[in-house]
Amino acid sequence: MLISIDSVLSKDLVGQFRETLRQARWLNGKRTAGTQASSVKVNQQLDDQSKPAAGLRQQLLTPLGQHQLFLSAALPHKILPPTFSRYCAGHRYGAHRDNPIMPTGGADRMLRTDLSATIFLSEPDEYDGGALTIETTYGTREIKLGAGDLILYPSGSQHRVTPVTHGTRLCALLWIQSMVRDNHQRLLLFDLDQSIQALTRKQGGEDTEVQRLTGVYHNLVRLWAEV
Ligand code: NI
Repeated sequence: MLISIDSVLSKDLVGQFRETLRQARWLNGKRTAGTQASSVKVNQQLDDQSKPAAGLRQQLLTPLGQHQLFLSAALPHKILPPTFSRYCAGHRYGAHRDNPIMPTGGADRMLRTDLSATIFLSEPDEYDGGALTIETTYGTREIKLGAGDLILYPSGSQHRVTPVTHGTRLCALLWIQSMVRDNHQRLLLFDLDQSIQALTRKQGGEDTEVQRLTGVYHNLVRLWAEV
């Protein structure tokens, strides 16, 4: 299940992010990868402890928390504070799966990674290579979206970033523990929710069938969600 969501961040906000990132301190990306992943990870990561990182995280989580399509697709229970990556020429991230459990740094301590999200902060024509390549049940997908767009994918799927040969690729990364752990159940809920919203626009919220389907959606969430 791959879901791409356009314009999660406005171009203005992307511009502000990039200005902050341009002046920020970058560290070797291997620091935060698991054992297998660190052996294939060649990129840079924003210093998580730095002041710019704290500001950018909040600036990113606020619009995301209000984005209806993202909320419907991810049904987030917890979201790890975002990290920021930079790939310059020669950088890449070989095939890996994301760690299943990650420390949150907060009182809840741990998060199970159900979904990973990449938010692109560079336009596709600003770099060569650097495609996010994800193995799915329907084959390999190569993803290169516009600045401000997001792709959501199961954290358990194998993925990689092909070598950047020219230019710079900036992105933000998020890991999400969903209220609905199972990818198929979550996708069914997403499809149902999207159809209910489309029907509501056509028939209105008073429509009997819209109300019945909304009830089915709510009861399925009640059945499947863990909070
Ligand atoms: Ni990854």
